[in-house]
Amino acid sequence: MRDIMMPIPSSCSNTNSSLAMPRFGLSLAILLSLAFLATSCIEQEKNSLLQFISGLSQDGGLTHSWANATDCCHWEGITCNSDRMVTDVLLASRSLQGHISGSLGKLTGLMRLNLSYNLLFGVLPLELLSSSSIVVLDVSFNQLNGDLHELTSSTPGQPLQVLNMSSNLFTGQFTSKIWKGMENLVALNASNNSLTGFIPSHLCSISPSFVVLELSYNKFSGSIPPGLTNCSMLRVLKAGHNNISGTLPDELFNITSLEYLSFPNNNLNGVLDGARIINLRNLAFLDLGGNNFTGNIPDSIGQLKMLEELHLGQNNMSGELPSTLSNCTNLRTMDLKINGFNGELTKHRSMGNLKSLAFLSIVKNDFTNITNAFRILKSCRNLRTLIIGYNFMHETIPDNDSTSIDGFENLRDLFISQCSLMGKIPHWISKLTNLEMLILDGNQLTGPIPDRISSLNILFRLDISNNSLTGEIPMAITELPMLQSEKTATRLDQRFFELPIYIDKLLQYRKASDFPKVLHLGNNDFIGAIPPEIGLLKELLSLNLSFNNLYGDIPQSICNLTSLQLLDLSSNYLTGTIPAALDDLHFLSEFNISFNDLEGPVPTTGQLSTFTNSSFNGNPKLCGPMLNHHCNSAEAPLMSIVDSELFGSEVIFVAAFVVFFGVGVLYDRMVLSRYFG
Ligand SMILES: *[C@@H]1O[C@H](CO)[C@@H](O)[C@H](O)[C@H]1NC(C)=O
Ligand SMILES: *[C@@H]1O[C@H](CO)[C@@H](O)[C@H](O)[C@H]1NC(C)=O
Ligand SMILES: *[C@@H]1O[C@H](CO)[C@@H](O)[C@H](O)[C@H]1NC(C)=O
Ligand SMILES: *[C@@H]1O[C@H](CO)[C@@H](O)[C@H](O)[C@H]1NC(C)=O
Ligand SMILES: *[C@@H]1O[C@H](CO)[C@@H](O)[C@H](O)[C@H]1NC(C)=O
Ligand SMILES: *[C@@H]1O[C@H](CO)[C@@H](O)[C@H](O)[C@H]1NC(C)=O
Ligand SMILES: *[C@@H]1O[C@H](CO)[C@@H](O)[C@H](O)[C@H]1NC(C)=O
Ligand SMILES: *[C@@H]1O[C@H](CO)[C@@H](O)[C@H](O)[C@H]1NC(C)=O
Ligand SMILES: *[C@@H]1O[C@H](CO)[C@@H](O)[C@H](O)[C@H]1NC(C)=O
Ligand SMILES: *[C@@H]1O[C@H](CO)[C@@H](O)[C@H](O)[C@H]1NC(C)=O
Ligand SMILES: *[C@@H]1O[C@H](CO)[C@@H](O)[C@H](O)[C@H]1NC(C)=O
Repeated sequence: MRDIMMPIPSSCSNTNSSLAMPRFGLSLAILLSLAFLATSCIEQEKNSLLQFISGLSQDGGLTHSWANATDCCHWEGITCNSDRMVTDVLLASRSLQGHISGSLGKLTGLMRLNLSYNLLFGVLPLELLSSSSIVVLDVSFNQLNGDLHELTSSTPGQPLQVLNMSSNLFTGQFTSKIWKGMENLVALNASNNSLTGFIPSHLCSISPSFVVLELSYNKFSGSIPPGLTNCSMLRVLKAGHNNISGTLPDELFNITSLEYLSFPNNNLNGVLDGARIINLRNLAFLDLGGNNFTGNIPDSIGQLKMLEELHLGQNNMSGELPSTLSNCTNLRTMDLKINGFNGELTKHRSMGNLKSLAFLSIVKNDFTNITNAFRILKSCRNLRTLIIGYNFMHETIPDNDSTSIDGFENLRDLFISQCSLMGKIPHWISKLTNLEMLILDGNQLTGPIPDRISSLNILFRLDISNNSLTGEIPMAITELPMLQSEKTATRLDQRFFELPIYIDKLLQYRKASDFPKVLHLGNNDFIGAIPPEIGLLKELLSLNLSFNNLYGDIPQSICNLTSLQLLDLSSNYLTGTIPAALDDLHFLSEFNISFNDLEGPVPTTGQLSTFTNSSFNGNPKLCGPMLNHHCNSAEAPLMSIVDSELFGSEVIFVAAFVVFFGVGVLYDRMVLSRYFG
């Protein structure tokens, strides 16, 4: 190709004036055409690119954009070197659809090819995999398929360093044949395909400088191959969400370069060998969650000074936490959920040293002494998410009387479900002004909801259901600003959790702001009327007041909660008629007013007509087409309001207000009646 760029004739500089014009003109023409050739891309390469694009069924407007410039070095996504050879084809996220043409393999200077995040299907052309120039090949996030057997790169000494074939539909097994020529491979990312067979172990004997091996979300089986020990430069080893079994082989602990070791959701077993794990002194991320590991966390964990994340959740581990954990001062995330760990959180109070700790989940273990746990954790000044439910069974939640709890100034999410804890909702909780979610369901807490709860300015999810709380539903709860207006919602934490938080098996949330706004007070001993001010909580998606001792009417104002998806007022002593405007809550998908003492017709023209009799059962005086008790003419919706025999005088009074002053006045009247009525 270089022969095109001939030296430019130098004769034009020393010419006499009479012959200057024509000779100069001619020279200029030659010069220009030569210059053009020299700066334009090579015709053959241009054709290879055009061949690639014409092989696509959808080119994301690329042909159109490329048609504008004749020089393919200036095309979008294309970069050339000084020799005008194409070196980079970077066409990620271009909505390209169709097969990848092998013609790209003819670009003999191509070093980086990035086609990720497109809709490419079919096979990965062998010409690309065995190219003698490509260094970085990223075809991730497409729909490429084919068996790995078909990918045999025979040429030795290939320059390929980074291969990302993740998030495609590749099948089959890695065989040593595939790697034969890839002596320079540094990173292989094959996650999220349907690959089978064993984890490839011969990689490092072929390519000794191997650094990143990422195989998560496949169907690999067998055990972790001892051959990985040749990978003396391996920093990242990830193979979570496969079917890998057996124990962690001794050889694994000889890879002292490892920084990131991740095998979650496999079938691994055995214990964490304390004597071996200290070899991995560079470890920053250890994820062995969702396996069958047993035994305790070894004392030597404290020597892993670089450790930032420790995930051992959902195993069968047990014993007390070693006090040496407090030496891991870089620890940000610790997830020990669903194991058999026991004892006090730490005996020597030392976990308070974990100044970086932001996320701690110990849910579903057998820890004891919640007072001690709070005393230790309050010094973890960066703690944002604390999930400690299903522990501390039948203990008493500490209040200021017994222990002074301060600190926790950055706590945003506090989950203490299902501990059968006794005591009252502690006052110190209302000082946690950064709290967004407070989940205390499934305890045996008594006493009233403290009025100071309204000082939790950004609280948007409160679940205190299934306790023994008493008193009226306090006005303070209707003052929670986050539940009142969307405006304040912008204050919410947009940052991602350290981990997804599971509400149940199906729902997981990665950001606090993704959680629905919820008020769950069900299954307690609350008494009195539902305060009409509940209608101020316009942002609520879920309101559950079931299984209490609430009486009086269903306040009309509930109809203001137009975002409601769940409304459960069942199993109380509510009386009066169903507010007709409830029928306008178009997002309601769960509705229950069963087992009260409501009367009159069920509104049947709107949303309420979509629910079956189970939403209304146990109210003998209700009538409607879905109930055994059909309405007679006297109970017809409009007539019923003026029937003073059936309804109290207050309803008539209210009805009159509706007629004369409209709903706004009605609302005021309801508010006033609470104080004066
Ligand atoms: C092609 O060039 C014209 C004029 O410079 C411009 O208006 C148009 O947007 C370009 N088209 C594409 C697809 O880049
Ligand atoms: C390919 O492009 C995507 C999207 O821009 C980017 O995230 C990815 O890091 C690139 N791949 C490589 C290997 O640089
Ligand atoms: C593919 O994997 C490589 C190597 O791990 C990485 O550099 C690249 O960013 C990944 N691409 C995408 C789109 O994540
Ligand atoms: C592998 O690729 C996936 C995209 O499919 C990316 O999310 C992941 O970070 C990559 N892994 C590594 C270690 O680069
Ligand atoms: C796996 O790939 C699919 C399809 O590209 C993608 O939607 C999904 O997010 C990927 N999953 C992971 C864990 O990367
Ligand atoms: C691991 O390394 C130690 C020396 O640090 C060596 O004695 C031992 O043989 C190695 N084990 C394996 C399985 O390679
Ligand atoms: C957990 O480990 C104990 C022994 O420590 C064993 O008896 C028990 O069966 C294991 N449970 C599961 C679910 O594997
Ligand atoms: C719980 O821990 C505290 C120290 O924080 C201690 O005073 C108390 O005795 C412990 N309770 C029990 C039952 O061991
Ligand atoms: C209610 O809480 C108790 C513990 O106080 C628990 O045993 C029970 O399963 C919980 N019920 C529900 C429905 O969550
Ligand atoms: C409302 O709360 C009660 C008590 O916790 C629970 O049993 C019921 O299932 C909840 N209602 C809905 C619709 O989830
Ligand atoms: C509820 O409806 C079913 C039919 O859909 C009926 O068999 C049943 O008797 C009804 N129950 C009540 C309590 O109305």
